Amino acid sequence: MLGDGAVAVAHPNIALVKYWGKRDERLILPCTDSLSMTLDIFPTTTHVQLTDQNTQDAVLTDGAVARGEMARRITAFLDVIRERAGRTERAMVETRNTVPLGAGLASSASGFAALALAATDAYGLSLEPVALSRLARRGSGSAARSIFGGFVLWHSGASDDPDPDLASYAEPLAHAHLDLALVAVLVETGPKPVSSREAMRRTAMTSPLFPDWLATTRGDVTAMREALAREDIATVGEIAERNALGLHRTMETAVPPVRYLTPTSHRVLEGVRDMRARGLPAWATMDAGPNVKVLCGGGDAQRVAGELRKQSGCAAVVARSGPGAVLRKKVR
Ligand code: DP6
Repeated sequence: MLGDGAVAVAHPNIALVKYWGKRDERLILPCTDSLSMTLDIFPTTTHVQLTDQNTQDAVLTDGAVARGEMARRITAFLDVIRERAGRTERAMVETRNTVPLGAGLASSASGFAALALAATDAYGLSLEPVALSRLARRGSGSAARSIFGGFVLWHSGASDDPDPDLASYAEPLAHAHLDLALVAVLVETGPKPVSSREAMRRTAMTSPLFPDWLATTRGDVTAMREALAREDIATVGEIAERNALGLHRTMETAVPPVRYLTPTSHRVLEGVRDMRARGLPAWATMDAGPNVKVLCGGGDAQRVAGELRKQSGCAAVVARSGPGAVLRKKVR
């Protein structure tokens, strides 16, 4: 063991306007801005300890040794940090999630946000939140947003910036105070058939709807910012649902198609439309997985969750706006 270890905690975020498409795969530079709310559920806790005993990083995820693609991504991310810190020691990383991995419940966002914070601290770097966001982005794009709490905007960065990496970071929307809740309906919690990284690449390369998707998303970010500033929950919900449905339509026209939504997901979507028709305002959003996240006013959350449980037979967890990534404590 070498020096102090570090422990950091970060929460997942749910994009109200989605990130889907990269203009630079290596630096993880997105094609568009995106906008999210950090949640107060399903945190990831990550402990990083440096060692001079090992020749490779050792990664334990929920008690199991990480291998393959995930281990490779974590080592590549730690290499970025080691290069910046001018250090060469390997790391022992232990990560605990409170949500099943790979099920489209944003574990990579909370995971890389917590790892960015714990690992920079362990390697003796102290980064401002915006710089940390830029770094977390290199692990997983959506992790850039989980550095901050509340409503967060991730700037794609100007494509003509001489150092494009400098321009792509997230920042909190300090004046957005909407009382928005999210009910996560757990349709399935197994690993997804296609990783979001692969699905994103495939969509960008093959979907005929991809250029339209980018144009619509750019407009949605502007409209969403305005709706948040007005605390206009109906417009926030409508834009979020339309953006998510557009995302899934775009993926479904990729070759071969990417289909994350299952018959149960579609039943939940119908239930949401039905609630709206009965005067209970709620809107759906879905990411790279079959789970449906339902947005509603804070005061309606328990009722919406109860109706969704009854209607779908699935577990439903209520989330509200959550905090940014924090360093927990130093351990020896
Ligand atoms: C559908 O951030 O997991 O959740 O940058 O390749 O690691 P990589 O992708 P990732 O993609 C998230 C996609 C999304 C939408 C979003 O969170 O904006």
